[in-house]
Amino acid sequence: MKIWRLNRFLLRTPVDTKCASRSFLPALVGLCLGITVSMMYAPFSEDSCETFLARQDPQKMIKLRETKSLDSGKEEEMYEPRQLEVPADSANYKLDSKAGSKFYRPKFAATELGIREKLLVAVLSSKDSLNTRAVALNKTLAHFVTRTVFFIDQKASVPPPPGMLIVNFSDGYNHLLPIAVLKYVSAKYGHDYDYFMFITDHAYVRAEKIMDLVTHISVSKHVHLGSPRGVEQGSTYCSLDGGVILSQSILSVVNATANMKWCSDKCHHSDQSLNLGKCVLHTAQMECQATVAGKQYTSHPVKDFNFDRDIEALREQTEFNKSISVFPMPDERTHFKLHRYFCEVELNATFYEIQEMKDNILYMSQFAPGGRDSVSWPVGVPESYKPKNRFDVIRWDYFTETHIFFQDDFTNVKELVGVDKLDIQDIIKVSMEKLNAKHNNIYLYSYLINGYRRFDPQRGMEYILDLALEDTSIVSEDGSNNDRVVEKRVFLVRPLGEVEVVPMPYVTENTKIRLVLPITMHDTDGWGLFVENYSKIKTEAGSIMSLIVVFIYDEAPKAGQEDRFSVLRSMLSYYDGKNDADTKSIALTVVSNKTYVSELTIIDMVSSHKSVSDDTLLFMCTVGMQLNMEMLNRVRINTIPGWQVFFPVGFWQFKPNLIYDKKPYPTDIDFNSKTGHYDVLSYEHGSFYNSDYKEARKSLTGSELASFDIFEMFVNFGKLHVFRAVEPEFKHFYQHLECLPNSPGKLYDRCLERRSLNLGTRAQLAKRIFQFQAKKGGH
Ligand SMILES: *[C@@H]1O[C@H](CO)[C@@H](O)[C@H](O)[C@H]1NC(C)=O
Ligand SMILES: *[C@@H]1O[C@H](CO)[C@@H](O)[C@H](O)[C@H]1NC(C)=O
Ligand SMILES: *[C@@H]1O[C@H](CO)[C@@H](O)[C@H](O)[C@H]1NC(C)=O
Ligand SMILES: *[C@@H]1O[C@H](CO)[C@@H](O)[C@H](O)[C@H]1NC(C)=O
Ligand SMILES: *[C@@H]1O[C@H](CO)[C@@H](O)[C@H](O)[C@H]1NC(C)=O
Ligand SMILES: *[C@@H]1O[C@H](CO)[C@@H](O)[C@H](O)[C@H]1NC(C)=O
Ligand SMILES: *[C@@H]1O[C@H](CO)[C@@H](O)[C@H](O)[C@H]1NC(C)=O
Repeated sequence: MKIWRLNRFLLRTPVDTKCASRSFLPALVGLCLGITVSMMYAPFSEDSCETFLARQDPQKMIKLRETKSLDSGKEEEMYEPRQLEVPADSANYKLDSKAGSKFYRPKFAATELGIREKLLVAVLSSKDSLNTRAVALNKTLAHFVTRTVFFIDQKASVPPPPGMLIVNFSDGYNHLLPIAVLKYVSAKYGHDYDYFMFITDHAYVRAEKIMDLVTHISVSKHVHLGSPRGVEQGSTYCSLDGGVILSQSILSVVNATANMKWCSDKCHHSDQSLNLGKCVLHTAQMECQATVAGKQYTSHPVKDFNFDRDIEALREQTEFNKSISVFPMPDERTHFKLHRYFCEVELNATFYEIQEMKDNILYMSQFAPGGRDSVSWPVGVPESYKPKNRFDVIRWDYFTETHIFFQDDFTNVKELVGVDKLDIQDIIKVSMEKLNAKHNNIYLYSYLINGYRRFDPQRGMEYILDLALEDTSIVSEDGSNNDRVVEKRVFLVRPLGEVEVVPMPYVTENTKIRLVLPITMHDTDGWGLFVENYSKIKTEAGSIMSLIVVFIYDEAPKAGQEDRFSVLRSMLSYYDGKNDADTKSIALTVVSNKTYVSELTIIDMVSSHKSVSDDTLLFMCTVGMQLNMEMLNRVRINTIPGWQVFFPVGFWQFKPNLIYDKKPYPTDIDFNSKTGHYDVLSYEHGSFYNSDYKEARKSLTGSELASFDIFEMFVNFGKLHVFRAVEPEFKHFYQHLECLPNSPGKLYDRCLERRSLNLGTRAQLAKRIFQFQAKKGGH
């Protein structure tokens, strides 16, 4: 029950202001420091190495140092490395002379070190209950334990349920199943798990509790744990319906050939539990126990269980709420109902635990620096961000039920729509619920007077609401409702959910990378700088990198006419001169007929080029970008074949003649908010592996093909992580964007918006307009 995943609201009314928000961190640091200092102190206060040295005669010490050891020679011998002789005729060291005298080594370190997984659950089912009770067990159990295997005695007539590991012994002898399962499990999984649980599909078990139990028992213990059921030859055995847990040590004893034979011969009762019990009792000589290492395996046998009828009585029993297994279940519906009940129990316990922790933190805070005041509200959520200067202040946005005001620098008022609207409706609802829960349902919601919200990246979303409420407990004299209106201010926090760590495959920086550079007639200005820098980096990077240039012609070159890209082409071959044949640049040609050429067309052509293999990393470039090695390394690290594609958000320079007053303009890009911005609307730089591109490309339909760019294609594809992040290493010179009216609608709109945003800041533009008007005015 991951309670932190529920993005719950926490709410404070002005009434409980006991813990004002003040830093709790110093208290924590103080505590930790205290503990650390005391721990650090402890070893030195004993008779340690230092005190030993201090008590020695210095002259003697110097002499001793020359003999290289402080201790006597005898001990020195003990630590001398020695080579162990391989016994010449030892069977354990079979040297295979043909294989170059190599030892056999197991494939996995885990096997070699004998590392085992925790728990395997073997469910004894039958052909008739496989699709009912066994599925119920799978649904409530399988995702908690390491592995679940289902066993059936007869070939099932219906197709087996998906996603379950099913083993069948089609002999039809149901009562012999336990021994067959014991044999199978120890042969197949006997070495791979610490604990083995045997259970029939009649049981309901709380898998989370079972895992908790087995992870807290030492693996060195012999365990035969379960719910005692009967006595056989003076020893207790467990009920299979209630679940039997055996440790690996017990299972391997049972597994010995002679023991197995005894079990197959002697255990022929009609009762499954007795068969298993007798076998374990005879071979391992260990009785069934309900407690191990102070941990109790609490089970609750029931008779003719009817959930709806019996639960009211059962919920009053403290023992029942603690039970780990309840059995037997009559059918899977009961199984699910019971599961629901225990989920509630678990939820309540979790809330209870959270409350206890909060109380504990509050109690402890009085002994910590800062006292009670140092605890911020809500307890356990990081305290709110403290701005260092006036530029750091997080702004509160003002809102009403219908509109939000001054949400960003560009809008004054905006209608509340979509998620924003839902968000605000939601917090009003939660506020009302909490207020009414606290004040005996006396309030009726009237309207929202003021609302403020802000996003604190350390805490989450914070809200302040001024609510107009009707207090139904006030009885006014004239019968009107006017004087029943009260105002309440509430403060809410929607904490950030659990931060998830996404596991990433390991990548190296040695992948071959191909820069794909589409170039039109408008881009020719930056070209010289680009190839010059490219060749500089190329000498550094070596064969890792090469360039594919796609020349986009406005119209098909006519015979006899000069090639409009001839200068560019000759520069390319000049700089390319020193490169090896296999890393030479490739030039491709597209004729656009003055219409929009989609990214997909270009990459399709590159992707199918004969020199571009599936494992090539393609990186889409533009002429104005500043090439450097760090950026290319970032691209390599962030692009993972079959896993992730990378679309960096670069820092784009504003238009130099607008942001700088005097010429000459700097040749490099200054990195601050006045000289450029992260252009979040730019999607043209992306990197991906050719194989991933081909895979995603297949998923596009005809209409999508016409309107998508590559970023959208990957997002739509859905099988790869699309990683998009600001990338300070990636800088881009100012570029005048050509927006083609015949490009797909949303791309055209995006282009226009970008074009208006990448000139300069609003203040800079306003200044220019002012200067222009002043000049026109004749000054
Ligand atoms: C059970 O065994 C039979 C034959 O041994 C096999 O054909 C069948 O696929 C197995 N599985 C199930 C779920 O019946
Ligand atoms: C059984 O459990 C596994 C693991 O939780 C799940 O993947 C599978 O879909 C389940 N099968 C059924 C039939 O519920
Ligand atoms: C059980 O016995 C079989 C065959 O005798 C063997 O392959 C297997 O490794 C044994 N398992 C354990 C846990 O000892
Ligand atoms: C057992 O748990 C249920 C569900 O949370 C609860 O209603 C009941 O009061 C609990 N019983 C006892 C004795 O604590
Ligand atoms: C919640 O859990 C606590 C402690 O576990 C118990 O005392 C209480 O009765 C439970 N209440 C409900 C409603 O489940
Ligand atoms: C470009 O236009 C000419 C005629 O206007 C046409 O023949 C040619 O096929 C077009 N090319 C492309 C690539 O659309
Ligand atoms: C070329 O490289 C230099 C130094 O690495 C850098 O200052 C310059 O901005 C780069 N120019 C381009 C167009 O990438």
